[in-house]
Amino acid sequence: MPPTPAVTVRVPAKVNAQLAVGGPRPDGFHDLANVFLAVDLYDRVTAAPADAGADPAVPRVTCAGPGSDLVPLDGGNLAVRAAVLLAGHHGRPPAVRLHIDKDIPVAGGMAGGSADAAGALLACDALWGTRTPREVLLDLCARLGSDVPFSLVGGAALGRGRGERLTPLPVGGTFHWVFALADGGLSTPAVYRECDRLRAAAPVPEPEADPALLAALAAGDPYALAAALPGANDLQPAALSLRPALDETLRAGTGAGALAGLVSGSGPTVAFLTADAGTARKVAAALETSGTCRAARATTAPAPGATTIVSHA
Ligand code: C5P
Repeated sequence: MPPTPAVTVRVPAKVNAQLAVGGPRPDGFHDLANVFLAVDLYDRVTAAPADAGADPAVPRVTCAGPGSDLVPLDGGNLAVRAAVLLAGHHGRPPAVRLHIDKDIPVAGGMAGGSADAAGALLACDALWGTRTPREVLLDLCARLGSDVPFSLVGGAALGRGRGERLTPLPVGGTFHWVFALADGGLSTPAVYRECDRLRAAAPVPEPEADPALLAALAAGDPYALAAALPGANDLQPAALSLRPALDETLRAGTGAGALAGLVSGSGPTVAFLTADAGTARKVAAALETSGTCRAARATTAPAPGATTIVSHA
């Protein structure tokens, strides 16, 4: 029997080394200067032909892994929306069975949903043989969410606009990060709203990338990058306001030897930069026993973007 035609795409999580947030725009979004780094923690998205008798107009999706009970399995799922968008672009039915193997924390501020959308676009494009040009895929990604284009390209990039306009950034080496994964998620819109509320009294400057932080990335220097991290995430005060216990997680990681810690994106995941792989393992082990997080993972950055890892037809 021939193998079942199926395509599996691996897509990385991200951390924002910097997340400078402007004031609220009329469309409800915020202009950003967003320094994205892809980290080697991945979701896997598999696209297979729709089951016989399934409605070809409705992609079916299943999901496994930690927190998968929190992932919607209807039209609100970003991977499903990606399949529908790509099919519509090509004027064909979105007939597909999607499966998501989650390792990226759900609602954790690490772009897990965006990763699944980018993965579904690439997997469906290969399954359907639609050969969508890269620029068109990037445009479809931007329509699905602010972080989705970065999930496709990976590496390191500066995101402007609402985060979707990307410029690749040079990175001079491998950085060792530890992620403290929290129980439960934080709603990204709620964190942005809290950020606006906390800053209501003060004028908000235009978001700009920090030249010292970009230079540290380009040099591959973890000490210089650590020096630039405090205050680099404008969403951190909002995430801490909504989840004050994250302060204890931050102190546990820096107390265990991390060079610096910051909330990852809108949280509640907390990211720690360490000097080397050995320290990362030590910090992860200390966080695991600290009682301040659900689990801790030692990772490296930058990591490649969405990549096809299994393809048989
Ligand atoms: O683009 P995405 O769907 O990922 O954004 C989720 C939510 O995060 C938006 O609905 C908005 O509330 C907030 N957001 C924002 N400004 C951005 C990106 C996201 O306000 N640049």
